[in-house]
Amino acid sequence: MKTKVKPHKPAKPSNNGKRPAGFDVAKIRKDFPILKEKVHGRPLVYLDNAATTQKPLSVIEALESYYRTYNSNIHRGVHLLSVKATDAYEAARVKAQKFLGAADAREIIFTRGATEGINLVAQTWGRQNVKAGDEILVTNMEHHSNIVPWQMLCEEKGATLKVIPINDAGELIKDEFHRLLTPRTKLVAVAHVSNALGTVNPIDKIIRVAHEMGAKVLVDGAQSVPHLAVDVQALDCDFYVFSGHKIYGPTGIGILYGKYALLDSMPPYQGGGDMISSVTFEKTLYKKPPHKFEAGTPHIAGVIGLGAALDYVTQTGLGDIAAHEQDLLVYGIQKLKEIQGLQLVGTAAHKAGVLSFTLGEIHPHDIGTILDRQGVAIRAGHHCAQPVMERFRIPATARASLGLYNTREEIDALAKAVKKVIEVFR
Ligand code: ALA
Repeated sequence: MKTKVKPHKPAKPSNNGKRPAGFDVAKIRKDFPILKEKVHGRPLVYLDNAATTQKPLSVIEALESYYRTYNSNIHRGVHLLSVKATDAYEAARVKAQKFLGAADAREIIFTRGATEGINLVAQTWGRQNVKAGDEILVTNMEHHSNIVPWQMLCEEKGATLKVIPINDAGELIKDEFHRLLTPRTKLVAVAHVSNALGTVNPIDKIIRVAHEMGAKVLVDGAQSVPHLAVDVQALDCDFYVFSGHKIYGPTGIGILYGKYALLDSMPPYQGGGDMISSVTFEKTLYKKPPHKFEAGTPHIAGVIGLGAALDYVTQTGLGDIAAHEQDLLVYGIQKLKEIQGLQLVGTAAHKAGVLSFTLGEIHPHDIGTILDRQGVAIRAGHHCAQPVMERFRIPATARASLGLYNTREEIDALAKAVKKVIEVFR
């Protein structure tokens, strides 16, 4: 595919290259006990944050405190521990509401992660609203979790999945988006930030244009919420999903935000306890959102841990986190570009902290293994984004991804370890 290529301009840190004042990375690192670990006898350099992030003590302690001192089921018991657990669970919902700028805590559904949030929307709103002949628009840079649920829905309904292509820098091709968006488009499902490339998509514009065409928009925020502030009301998106474990919270917990009127109009996702207002063998009446979508005993500890993680990120300040990570990103791009034979994959003008690369014929798994021996943890593979690999005609990349605790020294360690890979294969 031939596309217009823009010369690569590295993203500029929002603070003109200065590290954010008041952001004390050494102090932050002390909050993460795992960062003191050694790997193969070397200090751990953890650069696999897009896969999952490490957890601060406040999150670990929130989980421990729940299990040690008030473990109980929620919304059910009249006893003190149950009331305490219910209060903590619902307090985390309010934290998530504030974190996303949602109008109402009832717009926050707890899920197992971004993947489940997308599947929930596909199986409820999607099955209710998408008909034969309709179209769902995704992008060429989606994670499999924002492709497969829509593909399944399209197959079931006789609808069509359309794909917005990307250019050689890994940016959406705007004209193609405008061409593909038609009155047949029922939904645009788009990543806020690409996990494989780091591209930050202009979702504000995408949402506005999609709405003008009458389409709804679901944003996959798994890779954005740890790196940039999100306001779902300002964006006016219909659905926004993210995973707790990518934002310093526990695994197995995530958030689906949906506009209340939409959630209210949707059928339940799963049936079971806690999502009903009454059950008889003749008819069951459901609760209103959010409880309609939270059948069964949820991941209570996970929700409480996620609340602690959102507190941690909010207190640290997403503005400072973004500035710190942009500084590292620009530094990392510069360091990696100095390495002969290294090819960066994903060179969008607007990027979050992902450094995907290839090294000629050296397989990314070999790069990952040799880096690991030096204590540097990265991910190698297709990153659950095979269409991205196909677009760049490569089987895989090595990917270093940044978190708020990373340092320039760790980028130096990455560059040094990559040079070692080249020596091994020379
Ligand atoms: N989606 C995660 C990643 O990009 C697992 O690594």
